[in-house]
Amino acid sequence: MSVTHQLRCTNCGAKIATEAVRSDFRCPECNGLYEVIYPWSEGVGPWSAGSTASPTSTSSAKLASEVRLPNPGGMRHLWQERKTSTMAVDQSGVWRFRELLPIVRDVERVVTLREGNTPLYEMPRSAELAGVDWLLGKHQGMNPSGSFKDTGMTAALSVAVERGFQWVACASTGNTSAAMAAYAARAGLRCIVFIPDGKIAWGKLSQAMDYGAMTVQLKTDFDGCLKLLTKLVQQFPIYLLNSVNPYRLEGQKTPAMEIVEQMEWQVPEHLVVPGGNLGNSSALGKGFLEMKHLGLVHRVPKISVIQAEGANPLYRWFTDENREMKPVKAETRATAIRIGNPASWKKASRVIEETGGWCEQVSEQEIAMAKAEIGAEGVGCEPASAVTLAGLKKLVAAGRVAREERVVLVLTGHTLKDPQYTIDYHRGELLTVVEIAGATEAERAHHAALRKPPMVLEADEAVVLKALEARMATADAAGALAVPGIAK
Ligand code: F0G
Repeated sequence: MSVTHQLRCTNCGAKIATEAVRSDFRCPECNGLYEVIYPWSEGVGPWSAGSTASPTSTSSAKLASEVRLPNPGGMRHLWQERKTSTMAVDQSGVWRFRELLPIVRDVERVVTLREGNTPLYEMPRSAELAGVDWLLGKHQGMNPSGSFKDTGMTAALSVAVERGFQWVACASTGNTSAAMAAYAARAGLRCIVFIPDGKIAWGKLSQAMDYGAMTVQLKTDFDGCLKLLTKLVQQFPIYLLNSVNPYRLEGQKTPAMEIVEQMEWQVPEHLVVPGGNLGNSSALGKGFLEMKHLGLVHRVPKISVIQAEGANPLYRWFTDENREMKPVKAETRATAIRIGNPASWKKASRVIEETGGWCEQVSEQEIAMAKAEIGAEGVGCEPASAVTLAGLKKLVAAGRVAREERVVLVLTGHTLKDPQYTIDYHRGELLTVVEIAGATEAERAHHAALRKPPMVLEADEAVVLKALEARMATADAAGALAVPGIAK
């Protein structure tokens, strides 16, 4: 059987055969994280060279004769053609691009919920607010379980099935657990999720239970959950499905292909991604860089990562003269990215450097405003996703993004994941007095225009009419969201 891929340590460069990887997905030499490499990957060289546990000489020989650099034109055509197929694997927005992620032996047996295929929305009002001419939102919240995690889960869980695992597990701020639970249920695997007690949105917790996961709420934060799980997987045959698992990132790189396909093979100038454990920014970077290497595109977008001020270890690293990574005690209402010790920070930092991107941080007040603005555009997303718009505003103001650049925001999660946040915002109960005091007068007025608290009224025609007239008059006076050229 031919060897389609290997793992390479992103820290020391050591290559190993896929079966040789440790259960915590860490390099035994230097504790670095692995990436999946293919015979066509950049800098791979002779397939078995430098490998500590290389494929056998027979399989290498076979591989050398079989492997050709995938043909860009052929692949584009094939990917387009698969859109009309009725096969599950073709309908998946991950496996449709399977030439770029040959990680399973039998692709027809992958565990799929037809993930991917998410919309790329035009966001003209948010564009105006951010100060760019053209803004798109790649809405990964439109995946089956409501977040981008599905694209990674279909990949890594399919590998778990192929390797014969009965149990899978993850530590999560909510979305990974929801996705894992759904895919494990489809595959008939048992799954355990470790989540920080009291710090995940209800929508996500309910999903894990709905899909039948064994849910453990630990009295710690996400970083504590991941640390504990990393120890557990070394003692029990549980397959770890956090983004330290490099197969997760293979699935999560496919939105890069979708974006350029949706833009008729043009590449945006800038991609803005929220940063938590930093797997997603790493994966999207890998996707774009691989496409460039294969000649599918001629350049890559700048990839910028945005963090919440209270969970900003990458931002601190980025702005630190000595470029030292110091974990932080994370605190933010954007619970999905409440992470202080991001596992994939080295991979993400390389993506920022290689693509010429930037790293920014945004305040709770700025996140709340951006989320309401994205909602008012009829798109909606969860708080962690809204950091992208808040960050873009800062990048534009600092001259890092020019008005005419085409920008794509990666909206990572669905607005219904965390309805409590939205309700609290609109009722005026989200932001503290101090946070509001920290905003400018114009920002406070903008918040007031954005907020749409529900009215509780007597069921009386006159009362309702009077209240509606009053509300309409204030809405007209504010007119804050009216942008020329957009039908209201
Ligand atoms: N946005 C959402 C909605 C998320 O759920 C996450 C991560 C991120 C952004 C950040 O992505 O970690 O790859 O940098 N959520 C993880 C979870 C940690 O457990 O669901 P990242």
